[in-house]
Amino acid sequence: MTTTTIETTTDHKTQFLQETLAGLQSEPKFMLSKYFYDATGDRIFQQIMEMEEYYLTNAEMEILKYQAEQLSQAIAADGSPFDLIELGAGDATKSIHLLKYLTGNGLEFSYLPIDISEHVIADLEENLPKKLPGLDMKGLNGDYFDMLKRATELSGRRKVVLFMGANIGNMNIADAEKFCLSLKEILSPNDFLIIGFDLKKNPQKILAAYNDKAGITKAFNLNLLQRINKELDGDFNLEHFDHYANYDPASGACKSYLISLKKQIVNIGQNAIHFAENEHIFMEISQKYSLTDIDNLAEKAGFKPVQRFFDQQQYFVDAIWMVD
Ligand code: TRP
Repeated sequence: MTTTTIETTTDHKTQFLQETLAGLQSEPKFMLSKYFYDATGDRIFQQIMEMEEYYLTNAEMEILKYQAEQLSQAIAADGSPFDLIELGAGDATKSIHLLKYLTGNGLEFSYLPIDISEHVIADLEENLPKKLPGLDMKGLNGDYFDMLKRATELSGRRKVVLFMGANIGNMNIADAEKFCLSLKEILSPNDFLIIGFDLKKNPQKILAAYNDKAGITKAFNLNLLQRINKELDGDFNLEHFDHYANYDPASGACKSYLISLKKQIVNIGQNAIHFAENEHIFMEISQKYSLTDIDNLAEKAGFKPVQRFFDQQQYFVDAIWMVD
């Protein structure tokens, strides 16, 4: 067992190094947003979610809190038993409202949270049953698609897949289409997908959420450089990089960059990375959608839109789609 753990650790580190170098040796340079979330990154992201400007979390929370009844009615459909599968469950702070409602109403279902983090799954298995007595649950630790396939083999019940948090927004539209199509291919006709989108809105409102005055988002982006310094023997000087965010209301793409403030060479282990003055590193996309964009995505991926749930301000939508 010890050997396995060590191998996995080495694998993760090798992959982090390879993917980081590949991104920084590309033209233009980019980094992968999955690497934002080390312990410090998790902490800064918590702060982002608590920021005045970051409206997304509260907006979706409001939907789950106040429309759990309507959501459960939609999910209950004909009343037949189902598996509720959550992709990237995290600590389930949003879905718990829905779970509470579903368990309280005698619906027959199992909750199957999927997360890439072993720690997240262990936490959920320990804590959720305490909070929701009678909840039938089984955590699945691994890749979304592998675990979703596993879930379809575990039972023949109809599936309701939850994909919240506007995670779909961290893909560009072409990748989002491929992702939804892959989901549809694993699911069966009449299965549901409940999927959260951040809506196109006043561009200033969106930009502020990714460019806060206190500089928390900047710290979040710079932390990835710090992580490379720590874990991959890098020598980034964080003062020689600035954060730049940009929202394009036409495409709905909100993009985060780091900008090299001078011509410089950064070493990562034995590898020298050259930066020109003002050269950018693309860090992350957060794609915003109109309702038409969302319906188009559903159609392209083989789903039929069924129902939509909004927060009061209509900042956010959780859409229910059915496999066509
Ligand atoms: N991915 C999330 C989002 O699109 C989290 C996030 C907020 C984020 N601000 C960020 C990711 C800045 C990268 C950079 O809202």
